[in-house]
Amino acid sequence: METKLILLTVLTALLSISATVRTEYIRPQPRKTLHLPWNPKHPSQPQQVHISLAGEKHMRISWVTDNKSAPSFVEYGTSPGRYTSSAEGESTSYSYLFYNSGKIHHTVIGPLEHGTVYFYRCGGQGPEFQLKTPPAQFPVTFAVAGDLGQTGWTKTTLDHIDQCKYDIHLLPGDLSYADYMQHRWDTFGELVQPLASARPWMVTEGNHEKENIPLLINAFESYNARWKMPFEESGSTSNLYYSFEVAGVHVIMLGSYTDYDELSDQYSWWKADLSKVDRKKTPWLVVLFHVPWYNSNNAHQGEGNGMMAAMEPLLYAAGVDLVLAGHVHAYERTNRVNKGKSDPCGTVHITIGDGGNKEGLAQKYLHPQPEWSLFREASFGHGELNIVNSTHAFWSWHRNDDDEPVRSDQVWITSLISSGCLAEKNYELRKILMTP
Ligand SMILES: [Fe+2]
Repeated sequence: METKLILLTVLTALLSISATVRTEYIRPQPRKTLHLPWNPKHPSQPQQVHISLAGEKHMRISWVTDNKSAPSFVEYGTSPGRYTSSAEGESTSYSYLFYNSGKIHHTVIGPLEHGTVYFYRCGGQGPEFQLKTPPAQFPVTFAVAGDLGQTGWTKTTLDHIDQCKYDIHLLPGDLSYADYMQHRWDTFGELVQPLASARPWMVTEGNHEKENIPLLINAFESYNARWKMPFEESGSTSNLYYSFEVAGVHVIMLGSYTDYDELSDQYSWWKADLSKVDRKKTPWLVVLFHVPWYNSNNAHQGEGNGMMAAMEPLLYAAGVDLVLAGHVHAYERTNRVNKGKSDPCGTVHITIGDGGNKEGLAQKYLHPQPEWSLFREASFGHGELNIVNSTHAFWSWHRNDDDEPVRSDQVWITSLISSGCLAEKNYELRKILMTP
């Protein structure tokens, strides 16, 4: 009897230990804004170097110098220290109340070979950087993280992205969380430079980029000056919406904070852009914007409804495979959806505004979970989209678990072009595109 009692006690103890081990993941607290030291540099030394795609086989190199007369040329080549080409660029600067920006340089280099490492130097000064151009064909990998900010968690997210083998970074809005404090744009530029100088960062704007002051400062003044994207190269008249093509993927960056109704410039541009898409050349169609349309988190609930009402019919008719959004500081992945419910010919929507900003996580969800919501979790992290070929892509989400990247959600996504959905949609798309 006594032996039985001892065994029972041991068993109970063991069970309670295993229950402790299997306790739920406890989400970490938000981390404070990093205090990045201001490193005085030679006034002509390049700072905040980042690169972005700038049309077929071209790359835009952007950097800042304190010296207003520093030149805007970039020397580059495929061997370290041997620059066989050079290109002259343009520059801008802006004032924001008592703040005066440095000289912001934008220089387009190319034509460049695909999948090739280039070494480059900005304005004949400072260290040598290196970048890798994206591949010409599948497979291609995108790293995705929105709402980054500049906290300890941002650093962790960036470190995890740095460990992954990727070709392009996609950022669906809310970059620096400068929030009117303009020097924070400078510290953000320095924080992301190690990654953003090596792989193209393709960004679209969020609410934290607005920073307008009525009668004094226009919206997106700092963002547009610093993060120039290939809008001219894609036939757009605004840096707030544009498109680019890479290795069989047509990516459209839309603006949640500019007009989007059927009579707006953005909508007209989008129609023109879609009419140029050749799904034989780019079988995958991916769209990014900041405010999610399908969001079952309490945070920012319903904020995307206006844009969704205006734009979802075109999104559906165009056969968009995937939407990536931010704004909500959590992660959510939907089924293929359209008109508020699951639809086998609809679009997969992913909210990934969990880069690690100072505002912390959005932890409250609507209950019950809508039928279209397949996975939702309030944790910091980043996504990886590996488009393997014209029909299959592997999506994974990596939670920042105790500073380790842990793959917490993953799914194979098949392209709409391989589904037979597009044939039915073509008529509808032509009808919308032909409407003046
Ligand atoms: Fe936001």
